[in-house]
Amino acid sequence: MSWKKHLLITGGAGFIGSHLVRLLVQKYPEYAIWNLDALTYAGNLENLKDVEAAPNFHFIKGDITDAGFLHDLFSRQHFDGIIHLAAESHVDRSISGPLAFVQTNVIGTVHLLEEARRQWADALEGKLFYHVSTDEVYGSLGETGFFTEQTAYDPRSPYSASKASSDHFVRAYYHTYGLPVIISNCSNNYGPYQFPEKLLPLMINNIRHRKPLPVYGDGKYTRDWLWVIDHVEAIDTIFHQGRKGETYNIGGNNEWKNIDLVHLLCQTMDGLLGRPPGDSASLITYVRDRPGHDRRYAIDASKLQNELGWSPKVMMAEGLAETANWYLSNQGWMDHVTSGDYQQYYERQYRH
Ligand code: NAD
Ligand code: DAU
Repeated sequence: MSWKKHLLITGGAGFIGSHLVRLLVQKYPEYAIWNLDALTYAGNLENLKDVEAAPNFHFIKGDITDAGFLHDLFSRQHFDGIIHLAAESHVDRSISGPLAFVQTNVIGTVHLLEEARRQWADALEGKLFYHVSTDEVYGSLGETGFFTEQTAYDPRSPYSASKASSDHFVRAYYHTYGLPVIISNCSNNYGPYQFPEKLLPLMINNIRHRKPLPVYGDGKYTRDWLWVIDHVEAIDTIFHQGRKGETYNIGGNNEWKNIDLVHLLCQTMDGLLGRPPGDSASLITYVRDRPGHDRRYAIDASKLQNELGWSPKVMMAEGLAETANWYLSNQGWMDHVTSGDYQQYYERQYRH
C-alpha cells in the first residue's frame, strides 16, 4: 500500500497521545501512523488495543533522548508530519525529580527538531512539526483574566519550565531554520486512560477503594477542564488547517475550583456506586499544598474558534459521568496500572 502521508506521533501510548493515535488511525486509513513511545511508567499499550491490528498503525519503542536511535529511525523512515506529545507530564514528579523533565521535554524535543530539520532540509513543502504544549507555560492567574497567545511566559514549576523551554526551541527552529512548526497550548484534560496520579483518576480510584481523597492546600486552586477527545479533535484541526509559525490556545472555557470538582465527582460516584449521598465526600481530606502551586489557569481559545471553527463539544456533567463510568467499567485497566502489570504487556504483545 502506498500511503498518502507518514505521520510520526511521539508519546502515543500515553493519555492524550493514545486518543490522538486512535482518532488518526480510524479517521485517516490512507495515512501511515507511526507511534513512537519509550513506554515509561506513563506509557501503556493497553490504551491502544482496539487499533493495534489496524494496517495503518505501527508502533516503535524508542526514547527521544537517545540521539543515535532517532538518527537511525529518521535515516530509515521518511515522515511528512510529526505531532510531538512525548513528555514527562506530571507536575508533582517534576518537583521531586526535575532532571528527567529537562532530559525528555527539553533535550528530547531538540533531538527531534534536529532530525526533522535534517530530513526536511531540501523539501519543506507539506511538512509540519506540531508541538503539543500546555497552558502552564503562562504561569498563574489571579481571580480574573485569561491566557491568550500573547500572554508572556512565566513558568513556575520544573514541569512548566521544561515545557516553556521546549516551546522556545520550537519557535527558534521556525525563525532560524524556517522549519514549519505549530504549537498548541492546552488546559487540563480529563477522560479515559489517564494515569491515576492525576487528580480525577486518582480520586475515582480512591473513592472506589474508600481511601482518603487528598485535596491540596485550601482546595480553591482553579483549572480549566477539557474533555480529552475535544483536545485531540482540536489537534487534528490545527494540524490540517493551522497556519505555520502560529500558536493556538486550546481550552474548555470550563473553570472549576478543585474542591468543587471533587464534590461533583463524589456525587457522580455515589450515584454510580449506589452509595448514599455524601458517602464519598466524607473521604475528602485536606493535605499539604503542592510547592509553588499555580492558583488559577483559564484559557482564551477564541483564536482557534474564530480561525478554524473548533469549539469544545462535551460539557462537564456529561464528560465527568462518562469518565467515572469508564474507570468503573474498566477496573482491569486501573488494576493493571496501579499494580504495574501493564508494563508486561509490551513483552507479551511484541516478543516476536
Ligand atoms: P502522559 O504522561 O500520559 O504520556 C506521556 C507519554 O510520553 C507516555 O506514553 C510516555 O511513555 C511517553 N514518553 C515519556 N518520555 C519519553 C521519551 N523520553 N521518549 C519517548 N516517549 C516518552 O502525558 P499526557 O497527559 O498524555 O500529555 C501528553 C502531552 O500533552 C505532553 O506533552 C503534555 O505536556 C501535554 N499536555 C498535557 C495536558 C494534560 O492535561 N494531560 C494538558 C496540556 C498539554
Ligand atoms: O494545565 C495543563 C496541565 O494539567 C498539563 O500540562 C499537565 O501535564 C497535567 O498533569 C495537568 O497539570 P495539573 O498539575 O493541573 O494536574 P493534576 O491533575 O496533577 O492536578 C490538578 C489540580 O488538582 C492541581 O491544582 C493540583 C490538585 N491536586 C492534584 C492531585 C494529584 C490535588 O488537590 N490533589 C491531588 O492528589
